[in-house]
Amino acid sequence: MGKKRDNEKRNDAKHSSEEQDGYHIPVLLKESVDGLNISPDGTYVDCTFGGGGHSREILSRLNEQGRLFAFDQDAAAKDNLPDDKRIELIQQNFRHLQRFLRLAGVNAVDGVLADLGVSSHQFDEADRGFSTRFNANLDMRMDQRQELTAYDVVNTYSESQLHKIFEQYGEVTNSKTLAKKIVEVRKLTSLKTIDAFKTALREIVKGNPHKYFAQVFQALRIEVNDELGALKEMLQQIPTLLKPGGRVAIITFHSLEDRLVKNFFRRGTFETPDENPFINTTSVNELILVNKKPILPSEDEQKKNPRSRSAKLRIAEKRMMV
Ligand SMILES: C[S@@+](CC[C@H](N)C(=O)[O-])C[C@H]1O[C@@H](n2cnc3c(N)ncnc32)[C@H](O)[C@@H]1O
Repeated sequence: MGKKRDNEKRNDAKHSSEEQDGYHIPVLLKESVDGLNISPDGTYVDCTFGGGGHSREILSRLNEQGRLFAFDQDAAAKDNLPDDKRIELIQQNFRHLQRFLRLAGVNAVDGVLADLGVSSHQFDEADRGFSTRFNANLDMRMDQRQELTAYDVVNTYSESQLHKIFEQYGEVTNSKTLAKKIVEVRKLTSLKTIDAFKTALREIVKGNPHKYFAQVFQALRIEVNDELGALKEMLQQIPTLLKPGGRVAIITFHSLEDRLVKNFFRRGTFETPDENPFINTTSVNELILVNKKPILPSEDEQKKNPRSRSAKLRIAEKRMMV
């Protein structure tokens, strides 16, 4: 598609909440933005701009005074930026949320939204190395300024590190065998590409190869992008960043992310008293849950957009007074 058409499309979409055609279909769009309870002149953050679907929906509910700061660590996202002076795109990891907002002169906001994981665009761009469908270098970096790639993980991590990643991040049934096999094979050949990687492991695949490699790739992607570490750091900044009464809405796509969000919203900490008997259980959690149960996509949305099937939305609000 030509640049000119891209630009035209960007302008047409200025105030529309429609998807940025082909880039990404926003998931739980209305539910998540409704959940922010937008004040038209408020200041909001979209931690995961991507194709800008959620950002455009937020902008459509803001007046001229309203402001939106959007984060995305992937340089490709900037092509979707609407021509609107109320939005500023910050090409950084959302783990540095407060730092970059402060640089923009913002200390407190009315709402924060995050729609985690990778965009369809990232999956569909063969060269990015996220998808098992294409052959490319093992890359999987959302931020291409970062050094660590999936190649480094596969070719330099120890057997026990690999085992842990595949078990914890991918729930791969034979993660121990997989780690052992990788270490064995890489002594003989460099596992540079997706095809080389898949071929080398062909004989140890368990069950449906498509599902198997999807789990293996998920694990590598989470490790390469330190997705859980970034999420934890971002969540820890939310209670101080939100104004009293401000809201946070987070959409997750697998149980590891969802568990972190659920526990943090419930307890205001990642530690549990069983894990650490010395944590201060009397400290007040500044967040309160807006919905006890996560909000799931409707059947209709799941049918129209199969990628939404695993999505879960959780919303919390900062107490007015602690
Ligand atoms: C699921 S997509 C978001 C789609 C977006 N809500 C939309 O409607 O188009 C996730 C986006 O967040 C970005 N992302 C993921 N983790 C990030 C992080 N830790 N910091 C900054 N951006 C991140 C990815 O690069 C990707 O573009």
